[in-house]
Amino acid sequence: MKKKVISLLLTATMIAAMVTGCGGSADTPASTDSAADTTAEAPADTTADTTAEAPADTAADTADAAADAAGGDLADKKVGVCIYQFSDNFMTLFREELENYLVSQGFAQENITIVDGANDQATQTGQIDNFIADKVDVLIINPVNSSSAETITDKVVEAGIPLVYINREPDEAEEQRWEDNGWNVTYVGCDARQSGTFQGEMIVDLGLDTVDLNGDGVIQYIMVEGDPENVDAQYRTEFSVKALTDAGLEVECLSDQVGNWQQAEAQQIVANALGQYGEDVEVVFCNNDAMALGALQAIESAGRTVGTDIFLVGVDALSEALEDVIAGTMTGTVFNDHFSQSHSAADAAINFINGETNDYYIGCDYVKVTSDNAQEILDMVK
Ligand code: BGC
Repeated sequence: MKKKVISLLLTATMIAAMVTGCGGSADTPASTDSAADTTAEAPADTTADTTAEAPADTAADTADAAADAAGGDLADKKVGVCIYQFSDNFMTLFREELENYLVSQGFAQENITIVDGANDQATQTGQIDNFIADKVDVLIINPVNSSSAETITDKVVEAGIPLVYINREPDEAEEQRWEDNGWNVTYVGCDARQSGTFQGEMIVDLGLDTVDLNGDGVIQYIMVEGDPENVDAQYRTEFSVKALTDAGLEVECLSDQVGNWQQAEAQQIVANALGQYGEDVEVVFCNNDAMALGALQAIESAGRTVGTDIFLVGVDALSEALEDVIAGTMTGTVFNDHFSQSHSAADAAINFINGETNDYYIGCDYVKVTSDNAQEILDMVK
């Protein structure tokens, strides 16, 4: 009997841990040892740089040069692009920009094939097999599961096709294998530790007096996570809170749940958390903007007002989120530079096609977005 009670208690504790996950910290994979440095150096200045460098002009300017470098024959090269899920808002911006940029660099539209993995690794693996059978000249892959990277790399390298991973970073051991074997494989992405830190800093910058609505000297928050397998989700969860504690603030996690990057799931999670914890919730951290938009719906339905009796931050700088930041209905977001990432991925693919090598990790900076610069970022992404 006693045994049964203990086991029931254990089960209950485990379920509670799965549901709340509060206080958990991410494993430390990643090749980017320089997160702290990047974080310290990055902020507001990067806004100007990114703005200056970003979209179409650069593409147009370099198109001829790139085509020349490839002996003018990029138009004959076939590119296969695997996206983990077309319905993902951020990956939609990414893939549209990637396609435009590839065309601007001299690839023929009909030689660029972009497929939807429908968030299913088996589906995506079949698509990769088809691209290999079709003898594409380069593959750009946003894996459904980063943990499948080893298998994917093996089959693509075996087929003699260069490979550019995007957005979902394989682990350190996998990246080391590329380097050790001198394979034509690379990863393009941003260091999610920086985005998490920026989220936390935006809350810190408001000041304890503003954020600590119940005046107990502690910041009570809820966390809505993306896909738990994804290092972006792990790092944003960990580093957003770390920015608060690094600033000397005391924190209390009321709820930490997985919203799978999806607006509707986040709306439900935040509605439940607000129902359970009510006015105790001072800050809502969401690993991306899609979920922050869902959180905002829940916040408004609960009769709460962002900036007055609750604070909300996301990541990505989706147009809708930027409009909310401008309107004050979202505290802040972080620009996840899909221009830089898609251009770097295409440039790396072109280098491989031209017989050149790439670094094994190609990074980019995030940009903190508050009401101060949201309009500027919106003008750039629109
Ligand atoms: C973005 C998310 C997106 C995810 C997909 C992240 O970097 O911030 O919005 O859902 O990538 O892997």
